[in-house]
Amino acid sequence: MAAPRASVHGEWSSSLFFILAATGSAVGLGNLWRFPYLVGDNGGGAFVVIYLLCILLVGLPIMMAEIMIGRRGRHSPINSLRLIARDEGLNPAWQGLGWLGVAAGFMILSFYSVVGGWALYYGFEAFQGGFRGIDTDTAGTLFEGVLASPGLVVLWHSIFLLLLFGIVAAGVRRGLQRAVTLLMPLLFLLLLFLVLYGALTGGFAETLAFMFRPDFSAVDGGTILTALGQAFFTLSLGMGAIMVYGAYLPSRASIPGNTVWIVGMDTLTAIIAGLAIFPVVFSAGMEPAQGPGLVFVTLPVVFGEITLGTLLGMVFFVLLSVAAITSGISLLEPAVAYLTERGPLSRAGAAAIITLAIWLLGIAAGLSLNVWADVRILPFADLGIFDLLEFVSNDIMLPLGGLLIAVFAAWRIRSKTRLVELGMPPDSLRFRLWLLVTRFVAPLAVVLVFMNALGLFG
Ligand code: PFF
Repeated sequence: MAAPRASVHGEWSSSLFFILAATGSAVGLGNLWRFPYLVGDNGGGAFVVIYLLCILLVGLPIMMAEIMIGRRGRHSPINSLRLIARDEGLNPAWQGLGWLGVAAGFMILSFYSVVGGWALYYGFEAFQGGFRGIDTDTAGTLFEGVLASPGLVVLWHSIFLLLLFGIVAAGVRRGLQRAVTLLMPLLFLLLLFLVLYGALTGGFAETLAFMFRPDFSAVDGGTILTALGQAFFTLSLGMGAIMVYGAYLPSRASIPGNTVWIVGMDTLTAIIAGLAIFPVVFSAGMEPAQGPGLVFVTLPVVFGEITLGTLLGMVFFVLLSVAAITSGISLLEPAVAYLTERGPLSRAGAAAIITLAIWLLGIAAGLSLNVWADVRILPFADLGIFDLLEFVSNDIMLPLGGLLIAVFAAWRIRSKTRLVELGMPPDSLRFRLWLLVTRFVAPLAVVLVFMNALGLFG
């Protein structure tokens, strides 16, 4: 077996920073923006139950597999897969999985950065007291106004990407690690503040009933596909973000232990985001099913009405921006790591080129909300560019990437490699359980959900 490799990009100083970074990657717009509106749109408790099952049975084992592959390869996902395939005598085509991830990362970051830009802009608006006394109509008009303005969308998308570029260009320790050390405690503090506030408002009981009383009558195959896609998205799985962070994990660190922390914190944050957002929505007498506008339209109205609303609005949108930034850097890192490894570019040069490419794709996503609203890429006649990028990357590429990662980790590489990286005794219950779930349950879940989406079950 090959001697253990070292990462050319450096390592996290300890497990703690890996957990902070990976939790930073996982906790993002997916938790604070997407999860609450998906719960709202998909009938509440039943969606929450299915989502939790997807996290436990598919997300958790695949995250362990991703970290394991990353730490074994110690390179960008493309090169890690290539090197491991070589060490293990497997088909070199496995590096294609790394390329799939890079492509997914480009697509996700292009629209993610547009939404991250809105979060920054709304934080700025809140600072200026822009939500004071605002009603539903004005809030709707404000949000539509942002969407309708190519200039605003592109400006804030650019600012968002520039921040990510600055962090990623500075490297693993000086950039990524420093950013998460600063931003993650801030994120938890802001979140805590919001939940305490939510618990003190009138709508808390209603929220508990809405989020935890399952009504399965509204559930169909589409709901399950959405829940599974969300499980991958929220845990940053299937595209190499967690894999590349795993490549920087010190050899002594326990992969199963760290994974449980990351998955636990991400799930907790999504639930807490619901517990923080719905009470204010309910107590203002509004509807939870507001789609993507939930945090950008409904919440500003609420912030405009309540005492301390300006402060609360600032806290919320700063929180949203921080969460988006720590996730955005993990979307950028796999491609930047790869280009740096190839040489001759420095990390900063590589980061500049990748950021530029994503910036251009993001402009297309942003403009599709206004001047290019009618542009279609066939055969997807009913999706604009923004929605198409989101659909193809979240609902198809991430689950597909996750499926292949599970197959690679649980079927293809040698058992000894798995045991060494996971640090589990071969006959322990934990190891057998992980192997069973990663070999059968996770891939089968993805395949069934795909077949259902294709209408194969009638
Ligand atoms: N997990 C992030 C969120 O919930 O917002 C989004 C994300 C980051 C998805 C990194 C995929 C990824 F690789």
